[in-house]
Amino acid sequence: MSELATSMRPAMVQLDRISKRYGGMQALHETDLAVAEGEFVTLLGPSGSGKTTLLNLIAGTVAPSSGRVVIAGRDVTHVLVEKRGLGMVFQNYALMPHMTIFENIAFPLRVRRVAEGEIRRRVAEVLALVQLPDVAARKPRQLSGGQQQRVSLARCIVYNPATILMDEPLGALDKKLREYMQLEIRRLHAQLGITMLYVTHDQEEALTMSDRIVLLNHGRIEQSGTPDELYFRPRTVFAADFLGDSSMLDAVVEAPGQPTRLTDARGRPLLAAASELAPGTPVKAMIRPENVHLLRGSDAGTGLDTVLDGVMEDSIVLGSVVRHHIRLPEGGTMLANEFNARGRADAGHGERVRFGWRAEDLLVLVAPPSQGPLIP
Ligand SMILES: Nc1ncnc2c1ncn2[C@@H]1O[C@H](COP(=O)(O)OP(=O)(O)O)[C@@H](O)[C@H]1O
Ligand SMILES: [Mg+2]
Repeated sequence: MSELATSMRPAMVQLDRISKRYGGMQALHETDLAVAEGEFVTLLGPSGSGKTTLLNLIAGTVAPSSGRVVIAGRDVTHVLVEKRGLGMVFQNYALMPHMTIFENIAFPLRVRRVAEGEIRRRVAEVLALVQLPDVAARKPRQLSGGQQQRVSLARCIVYNPATILMDEPLGALDKKLREYMQLEIRRLHAQLGITMLYVTHDQEEALTMSDRIVLLNHGRIEQSGTPDELYFRPRTVFAADFLGDSSMLDAVVEAPGQPTRLTDARGRPLLAAASELAPGTPVKAMIRPENVHLLRGSDAGTGLDTVLDGVMEDSIVLGSVVRHHIRLPEGGTMLANEFNARGRADAGHGERVRFGWRAEDLLVLVAPPSQGPLIP
């Protein structure tokens, strides 16, 4: 969904300058965030970046140090957790072990004094929705981890909350099951039109599931946008590094514009995407592996704006994709992806290779002040 479409719909959850401090620890700096009705927003970031704190401030299980929480137009900053009309799903399924699946799911309805016939109807309905129509009489321990997580999802949606908060709900599941559940949660979201706030530290999960990703770093929003915007147009080295694979070259701005002219560490000219940084600014030039094109034989690289050479280090088959590691003369590695094909002829280890890119695919990022090692 585009930012425009998002901004035209009413906000279901709105945070105004919300912050949280624990003693001397600023877990979340002053933050603004608006989540549109029906939107699927993922809070993504490394461990300790403030994701759970932000979610708990919305839930009401943590009181803010400053700011306001508004849900469906109502200021709920001082409203109790259970009066905020939210559904919550956590990593540990938190099902009650001695109760049947039916009783577990019925529980939030009993609390709300729903009539018995209506309870039976709604439990059956949500069990069908999570595709577990036959488990009502069982106990939680008689279900697999994935099934238990679907039951906690059913228990959450059974009372029709307009907004659901999920904190790393699939963290305990193995990869196959996690991917299955990701699609399952997406499907439920589409089917029920619920507003979703989803926490994960897993970038692939965020890219798969979200309408919008809010990337957190050290208690601040680093960047917010659609999965495509974060992946193809990261604005910082941190964002580029955290989502997906990339190669980064140290360079200096020669002339800003469209394209931007850069000079690399060996004085070679590089053409890059539009930027307005002043000449002389040190930058990181970042490119995704799928945008680095290997040239074979006498290929002149027509259509590419910059062509460089390097030395083939290694080619690794990742299934449908081959990942080439190319050593650069100034040190460092350039990653290049190609589709895998039978009869493919790769350059051998130590062979000289040429590669290139289109200017629009080499992004100009401001080099971070502390030049720590970048995680490859
Ligand atoms: N109850 C607490 N008391 C003190 N510090 C906390 C508390 N909860 C979280 N923190 C700190 O706040 C920061 C953000 O934590 P958290 O929101 O849990 O991060 P995430 O969910 O992204 O891993 C961390 O440095 C964490 O240690
Ligand atoms: Mg957390």
